[in-house]
Amino acid sequence: MACNLRILAFHSGYHDSAAAAFDDYRCVAAVQQERISREKGSGGLPWLAIDEVLQIAGWTRRDVDAIATTRSLFPASYLRNGLFKEIDYGVRRWLGTDQSQRELGRLCGRRHTSDSLSLFRGKQFLEDNGFRPGIPLYFANHHEAHALPALFYTDWDDALVYTADGFGDNVSYSIRSLSGGKLNCYYGDDRQLLVKHAPKNSLALAYGYATKACGFRMNRHEGKLTGLAARGQPTLAADFSRYYRLGDKDGLIDTDFKTFTAVEQAVSDVCRGHDRETIAASIQAVVEDFICRAVSHWLKVTKTRNLALAGGLFSNVRVNQRLAETLPVDEMFVFPAMGDDGLAVGAALCFLRERDGLTAWLSQRRRLDDVYLGRDYGEQIDACLSTAGGIQRTNGAVAQTTVDLIRAGKVGAIYTGRMEYGPRALGDRSILASPSDPQINDVLNKRLDRSEFMPFAPYVLEEDAERVFEITPRNRYAARFMTIACAVRPEWRERIAGVTHVDGTARPQIVRDRDNPLFASILRTFRDATGLPVLINTSFNVHEEPIINRPEECLQALTDGRVDFVVTQQAVYTRG
Ligand SMILES: [Fe+2]
Repeated sequence: MACNLRILAFHSGYHDSAAAAFDDYRCVAAVQQERISREKGSGGLPWLAIDEVLQIAGWTRRDVDAIATTRSLFPASYLRNGLFKEIDYGVRRWLGTDQSQRELGRLCGRRHTSDSLSLFRGKQFLEDNGFRPGIPLYFANHHEAHALPALFYTDWDDALVYTADGFGDNVSYSIRSLSGGKLNCYYGDDRQLLVKHAPKNSLALAYGYATKACGFRMNRHEGKLTGLAARGQPTLAADFSRYYRLGDKDGLIDTDFKTFTAVEQAVSDVCRGHDRETIAASIQAVVEDFICRAVSHWLKVTKTRNLALAGGLFSNVRVNQRLAETLPVDEMFVFPAMGDDGLAVGAALCFLRERDGLTAWLSQRRRLDDVYLGRDYGEQIDACLSTAGGIQRTNGAVAQTTVDLIRAGKVGAIYTGRMEYGPRALGDRSILASPSDPQINDVLNKRLDRSEFMPFAPYVLEEDAERVFEITPRNRYAARFMTIACAVRPEWRERIAGVTHVDGTARPQIVRDRDNPLFASILRTFRDATGLPVLINTSFNVHEEPIINRPEECLQALTDGRVDFVVTQQAVYTRG
């Protein structure tokens, strides 16, 4: 194998841009652009996230040995367009209607080549942006960059890797199998990049358009529909599903839609005049049904019982639950940054596979311990909170003090270690509250200026997980990262009403002491005092803002009264 490389990887998308730093196979840092820009779902070239991951790694741009990215958005000046397009763009620039960034994948399709490097002014890009000249620049396929992290962080000998999203590199799905040391792609790689009329068969997009039809924001509020789904009847399911079919032989989800506009129009027509609960229940049922049948088909074809999933569609914890409960699988894993923010890690892993070959790449696989890949502000959080006016500090016995406050009905935030990568807060930037009050969701929604329709998620210690929730070897790994819903055991539903949905499910995070000792210790102290083995863990953020990153943002949330206290490794802080 070649010597260790310092790899900078990033995804520059229309939304959810992110960057990652890899020291060869070790992910040293990974951060979404939104966490730094403070604009939810930030797209475009993620320079803020790039500089953040480089700083965390202790590298400068000159130290980077290789760049891995996707064929997404770049300033137009870096793309080698044909003469007519250049003239066209020149006219648009003159008219002032030019877009500053363009998609490399689209240019590849138009020029009928997957050789992205031939269409990209790499030398110029490196020179303009302070990287060393001549370092390798690698463009990953969108769905391969979704798929490979879902496989890399497992130790399975065989697997089905299924991805589903809105759209990326001309497809919305990909299907791969690992068997006998070979990774076979059945659908969704660069062969589809060159297909002229890309299929408009994305169920994730249909779900997004239904989200929009309910008055929410597409690409952001899909989780609200997932929560609402349990409150309605799927009476419109047949109206949605008549537009889609699953090929008996090829196992591909298909449709007759020719344009995205036509998809949106059809979804909007079905939704018109119906309440949100009915729409949510219906589109949820359709997506669950098609994805389960498609994955079932491919499990049979690939003869495996291990299932790896990624792509934005699998942020849907109910779809994942249905897959785990109805299909013949031994274990399921969803890459925690399943959306396009995960493509930064994916691009690095695609590059490494290309560099080393599959056998060497497979030998480097490892299970994922955590996603604490952002910046650790260390003692700066304590310096920030201690010196602020009107804040009272309580030293020592932080777990006990935290539990006393929670038992007194207070809502607090834990701020410790490195910020999480991916959409969910998993104990380093989380809000904690008691799970016993059925009204807690209304209280928290009001205080945090949110409107969630799914109860806030619980976290549970590894030793208690199975007695409270339907946790099995199938869903345990996925539940470590809050990527799957499961049933709450009936005897617990009333007692932890604050985290149990109307259909008796929850989406727990299983916590191990070694991953986050403070987070685990607070819960153990709470359990020993109350007999309740879970606490609420919801993202430490307010309204439409991204999860809190810097100490100053944490202080602001405390002084604004969004939370009653903040607990760090050293102390508990309350408003004085
Ligand atoms: Fe994607």
